[in-house]
Amino acid sequence: MTKTKKQLGQFFTEPVIAEFMAKLAITEKTQTLLDPAAGMGILIEKANDISQNIKIECFEIDKKMIGKYKKNIKFNTIINNEDYLYSENKLYDSIICNPPYNKFQEIKGKKDLIELFEKKYDIRLSGYTNYYIYFLIKSLNEMSKNGKCIYIIPYEFMNAKYGEIVKKYFIKSHKLEKIIKFNSQIKLFDDAVTTSCIICFNNKYNEYVDFINVDSLEDFDDICVNKYDNVGINRYLYSELNFKEKWLKYFKNQKKIYKNLICLKDYAKVKRGIATGNNNFFNLNLDMIKKFKLSKDVCIPCVTKAADIKKMIITKNYFDELLSKGKKMYVFDGRNKTTSGDNKYIEYGESLNVNKSYLNSHRFPWYGIEDKKPAPIWISVFSRNNLKIIRNELMIKNLTTFHGVYPLINDEESINIFYCYLLTPLAQKILRLNKRECGEGLDKFEPNDLNNAMILDLNIINQNDKNEILEIYETLKNKNLIEIEKLEFIFSKYV
Ligand SMILES: C[S@@+](CC[C@H](N)C(=O)[O-])C[C@H]1O[C@@H](n2cnc3c(N)ncnc32)[C@H](O)[C@@H]1O
Repeated sequence: MTKTKKQLGQFFTEPVIAEFMAKLAITEKTQTLLDPAAGMGILIEKANDISQNIKIECFEIDKKMIGKYKKNIKFNTIINNEDYLYSENKLYDSIICNPPYNKFQEIKGKKDLIELFEKKYDIRLSGYTNYYIYFLIKSLNEMSKNGKCIYIIPYEFMNAKYGEIVKKYFIKSHKLEKIIKFNSQIKLFDDAVTTSCIICFNNKYNEYVDFINVDSLEDFDDICVNKYDNVGINRYLYSELNFKEKWLKYFKNQKKIYKNLICLKDYAKVKRGIATGNNNFFNLNLDMIKKFKLSKDVCIPCVTKAADIKKMIITKNYFDELLSKGKKMYVFDGRNKTTSGDNKYIEYGESLNVNKSYLNSHRFPWYGIEDKKPAPIWISVFSRNNLKIIRNELMIKNLTTFHGVYPLINDEESINIFYCYLLTPLAQKILRLNKRECGEGLDKFEPNDLNNAMILDLNIINQNDKNEILEIYETLKNKNLIEIEKLEFIFSKYV
């Protein structure tokens, strides 16, 4: 018995949507393209409009449909008249698909399919899973190194129970890049009313997923070049995604869309700290200074280890306290040597071959340290949970354990306000949109991650609020007590 149009899940993509999907899927690097469920070939036609140099392959199970395909598509493609789901796996640069939308009750040989997918793709799908998910899972395993995979599918899986395992699979892979959901007024198919979305994957390790609401066809061009000024977008870090949650809520505007943000580098420059080339030799505490009879001139006050710093503001008192606890709070700079003790220490370094390490042998003289100005604010390079942010009132130097933050406006008040802002959970959340994950919960920021991160434009804060922030700063300085909720409340008014 021949299968009906419905049994074959034959809903055809509107040309304008097909064109949009082709633009999302194809880059200058695309050499091969797959459509796993070709139908009459609209997606292939639009791909060919973009580039005629792509090797195109497709699958279509329905012989009759292949006849229509051949009437439409006059250029060279490879068409396989077989079931895509059981076909051999290959790699493609672009995969673009409007898969059949059969419900789970209509899937023949479902048990075998579930087993096959568990074996081949390491996912045990529930028996309630709709057909299109099988197509998608197979395609995700067929992306080449720089591959992209763009599917148009119903969005019910995001809220359905059977979708949990699918979302878990997406989260684990980090390959999901964005989901574009359409306003129900936009017609996606020739004769079907379905609630669909375009789901975009790439073969990279993505840090976040964009959930995008599209109200008008005019938004398409912007989205293709990742311009989101006119569309509703919610960006979720992978760590914020929960497969047990209903993802349709991620599209709603319950996530704060921040306003009044500027790039951090427009307000301050973040630079790496000083690298000594041999911390054992260069980092000094009082005992070492005494033992080697070093002059004051060669001992430069400097924080050498972020873990030593437990208070939030470096003052003279706190510096002395750390010194008295034996912490290494100086760095040796032999360029200022005056005494025989200083010279002997340099000779001692040479006897230990300190001058031979890569960094030191390329520095002249090897026993001098980099000329870097002290930074009024430091941000720790590594962090768990909250970023460690220190106000360096004493203006001592810092090694690479901290990055130095150099505000462009250099008056004390502005620096203290900026510092207070950086302490807030709000600021850290906004900064973290650029974070780099280094395994289990440990985040690493390179200076440029921070330079390119966003912050609130602090120029818009009114004088009353500024005064209040500065009072909070004084309390922090004098009592080591941070009124973080008060700060969060003040800054939140502006974003
Ligand atoms: C929703 S239509 C999409 C057609 C076309 N790509 C478009 O966008 O208009 C899905 C197509 O997949 C075909 N199809 C269904 N099951 C298939 C399978 N297991 N393998 C390959 N093609 C299949 C159907 O015959 C149908 O033409």
